[in-house]
Amino acid sequence: MSARKIAILADIHGNMPALRATLEDIDRERPDEVLVGGDLVGRGPEGSRVVATIRERGWHCLRGNHEDYLLGFIRRQVPEEWWQDDEWAASRWMAAELEPSAIEYIESLHFDLRPATASGLVLVHGSPRSNNDGIGPWTSDEHLARHLDSVEESLLVCGHTHRAMDRTVDNGRVVNVGSVGLPFNRDQRAQYAMFEYDGAEWSVELRGVPYDREELLRTYESSGFQAAGGVTVELLRLEVQQATAYLVPFLKWVRLTGRRPESARVAEFLDFYDPDEPLHDFFMRLEGLRS
Ligand SMILES: [Fe+2]
Ligand SMILES: [Fe+2]
Repeated sequence: MSARKIAILADIHGNMPALRATLEDIDRERPDEVLVGGDLVGRGPEGSRVVATIRERGWHCLRGNHEDYLLGFIRRQVPEEWWQDDEWAASRWMAAELEPSAIEYIESLHFDLRPATASGLVLVHGSPRSNNDGIGPWTSDEHLARHLDSVEESLLVCGHTHRAMDRTVDNGRVVNVGSVGLPFNRDQRAQYAMFEYDGAEWSVELRGVPYDREELLRTYESSGFQAAGGVTVELLRLEVQQATAYLVPFLKWVRLTGRRPESARVAEFLDFYDPDEPLHDFFMRLEGLRS
């Protein structure tokens, strides 16, 4: 097989300025094939436009957990309290924002993808087990090897944790392509990865593309996302500005300490939370508060 160049992008999360910058970069690189690793929607204001843009390109795309969440609202298959709780207000707004053609598209997406133009590579959203199971820098080599054992390919590509990573273990290589729309690795650029196959081996380049974050934050306001999403969108703003996780740690903190997820609690949370502390350590500290 001749040389092949494949771009893989994931976790766009309704962020059109980041997607546009990424597409310009991909177009300049002229890959033979482009694959999309899911989470087109959720956690951002322009899900329908992102879906329409990817669909127009005709690229193969898989289904992330955020496609599943919004489909849950659309099919009314979520727990009753999710229709009232503040922490789901942004999701209700994003589900309502999805146009029928976008819904039809995300309903058609599959769990994993293999490129048509090269072999030995498989793409999943989270891990081979589930689109809600994360692989990140904290995942042990042993765990990576087990994931590789569960697929036929020796190059496993994923997204979901929003942390770009390229690691080789005894039985293969695992690449997390990072996130276009909401990176959590303190790098504010839109991130994706370029893979090149020379007929025998893959080379991988983790890429970052600057984009206009202020434009995204203006859309938070002009679209109505910010007004509807309350405290959830406040924390998403911080994630965009700081390129690290705030929302899930906040929601765990309110749950475990019996507080309500409201704006008035954010300052108190920020006193307790260190965004550069590994999430695992933060969750252990939280567990300690409970006992
Ligand atoms: Fe994601
Ligand atoms: Fe995800």
